[in-house]
Amino acid sequence: MCTFDNHETMVYCEMCGVFRESFVKSGKDVSIKESVNGISNNSGTSALSNSDSTKMPAKTSTTNFDGDSERKYASTSHDKVNSTQLASVGSSSSTGKKKQPVIFDNNVPIERTTQLNADHFQLKEDQGSSRASSSAQNKGSMETLSSDISQLSIERNNVNVAQPLPEEYKPEGWMLADQESGVLSQLNLAIVGHVDSGKSTLSGRLLHLLGKISKRDMHKNEKEAKEKGKGSFAYAWAMDESTEERARGITMTVAVAYLETKKYRVVLLDSPGHKDFVPNLISGATQADAAILVVDASTGSFESGMDGEGGKSVGQTKEHAQLIRSFGVEQLIVAVNKMDAIGYSKDRLEFIKVRLGSFLRSCNFRDSAVTWIPLSAVENQNLIKSPSDARFTSWYQGSCLLDAIDSLQLPSRDVSKPLILPICDVIKSQSTGQLAAFGKLETGAIRNGSKVLVLPCEEVATVKTIERDSSSCSIARAGDNVAVILQGIDGSRIIPGGILCHPGFPVPVANYLELKIRVLDIAIPILIGYQVEFHIHHVKEAARVTKIVALLDKTGKPSKTAPRFLKSKQNAVVQVTLDQAVCVEEFSKCRALGRAFLRSSGSTIAVGIVTKIMRQDQH
Ligand code: GTP
Ligand code: MG
Repeated sequence: MCTFDNHETMVYCEMCGVFRESFVKSGKDVSIKESVNGISNNSGTSALSNSDSTKMPAKTSTTNFDGDSERKYASTSHDKVNSTQLASVGSSSSTGKKKQPVIFDNNVPIERTTQLNADHFQLKEDQGSSRASSSAQNKGSMETLSSDISQLSIERNNVNVAQPLPEEYKPEGWMLADQESGVLSQLNLAIVGHVDSGKSTLSGRLLHLLGKISKRDMHKNEKEAKEKGKGSFAYAWAMDESTEERARGITMTVAVAYLETKKYRVVLLDSPGHKDFVPNLISGATQADAAILVVDASTGSFESGMDGEGGKSVGQTKEHAQLIRSFGVEQLIVAVNKMDAIGYSKDRLEFIKVRLGSFLRSCNFRDSAVTWIPLSAVENQNLIKSPSDARFTSWYQGSCLLDAIDSLQLPSRDVSKPLILPICDVIKSQSTGQLAAFGKLETGAIRNGSKVLVLPCEEVATVKTIERDSSSCSIARAGDNVAVILQGIDGSRIIPGGILCHPGFPVPVANYLELKIRVLDIAIPILIGYQVEFHIHHVKEAARVTKIVALLDKTGKPSKTAPRFLKSKQNAVVQVTLDQAVCVEEFSKCRALGRAFLRSSGSTIAVGIVTKIMRQDQH
């Protein structure tokens, strides 16, 4: 119980947010009392305060360049898929740190990736923020959060962190050059949605229809799935490659695969739907330019996706939609799957459109940016061509999924800013010793021979080669999802959650942050001292809400007095302290590094943006 000296009328301690003893004893609110105890004992998030479990991998397998059996998306298993394992694990072998299982709230074991190195996570006084032109960077700020937050204005950074004077960044000519001739633009497409809605089946089926899976591999998958009594998962096995994923029949990590449409080279990011793996989804799907939200149309399943099992919580259809919008994704295809299970009923589709449509609107998806595609992945209806089933064709004349993908617009790419590449994975080849950092270039460009600053270790490395979809390319620009083979740096110095950036324009590394957040549907109020999981790009870090600065009204105006706790649907400015510093940037300067998510007890409790990076003494 709190020992601070508070006024007796106070329900909560002003210093730590804990309830006054007398109040708790009075039993006025048992549920809140339990939550407070939960916070102080970290019951829901206990693993987080243990440094051993604060860094979650987005993926569970050990990976290397040589396509060993554990490698996710090893090209050995799907020659034509050519998919490279991404979105995930650290170079644990290279760091000599063994991966250990981490137990999620409901005892789902996950392996732990490389520890972030605390020695290199101090905010340096002279380490400024990205120096890219602020006018360009500020444009259209806030549009990525939900409606209330998106209307708020971002104050200019008034952080008093000593920084060198910004120097104008001038991109070199080759960085801005047009798209290489004959090379399709890359579109990063996240596949999200409630567990078992058919995301992996749909992805696998698309790959198969587009010739990315050989007959031999498909036959092998079908045979093995049948033998294991999982015949209906044959297509999903193209994405779910690990033994555990196959045995459990669920996706656990974000799987990456490539396919080509008329217009795009699509990077498919097939995300896990199970609620225990939302952290993996956050790490992998933050790279998305657009998303396909897969919905199971069958009776009861759509409802579970909306309101959770038993209808009493938030299903992952809603949670994923909210998250993906908060990642900045504006364009959404809603794939209403398993239409075969409801006899291709138009009425059911309309019902789903009305219910989900109104939720998507509340997440600030514009109606015009949402495309509804009814389909059946299993019966191959409406995927790459118009449907053939008479029950479907009798009323449907719309687009097929492939055409809907080609109708997506590429978001603008910030090639004229300094390089920022958040590292989602690091792989070291056992045989050649080559070291590859995987990730999507958020801004800028690199080519063979470019010098890059590796953060948080602050060492400069040289780009030896770049690989895109397993084939080498000479240049990668903003938007490209690539493997960067580095030389001149020790493998143990580079970690997932780190950043490759321009040596003259380092990204801040900090653990005291001010955020503007929108609180989602929560059962337990957020108090000062609340322990949360802080997610930002490919990092998950244990954190504490250290101050609630103000409530924000719909216009973004802060309240004069700070509230003592936050509840559902409120917008607020809060300060958080992270156990260890992370590479982070103010949202107004780099959106990808300034979007944060707060999670607790297995649920996302708030989405937000970083508005200020602070030093300890400013906190
Ligand atoms: P997670 O990744 O674990 O969230 O699941 P998922 O969304 O990837 O679902 P998955 O592709 O693994 O499919 C789950 C089950 O739904 C499997 O048994 C599939 O055969 C089945 N399924 C997928 N698509 C369809 C469909 O169009 N119709 C029917 N009837 N079943 C489908
Ligand atoms: Mg799946």
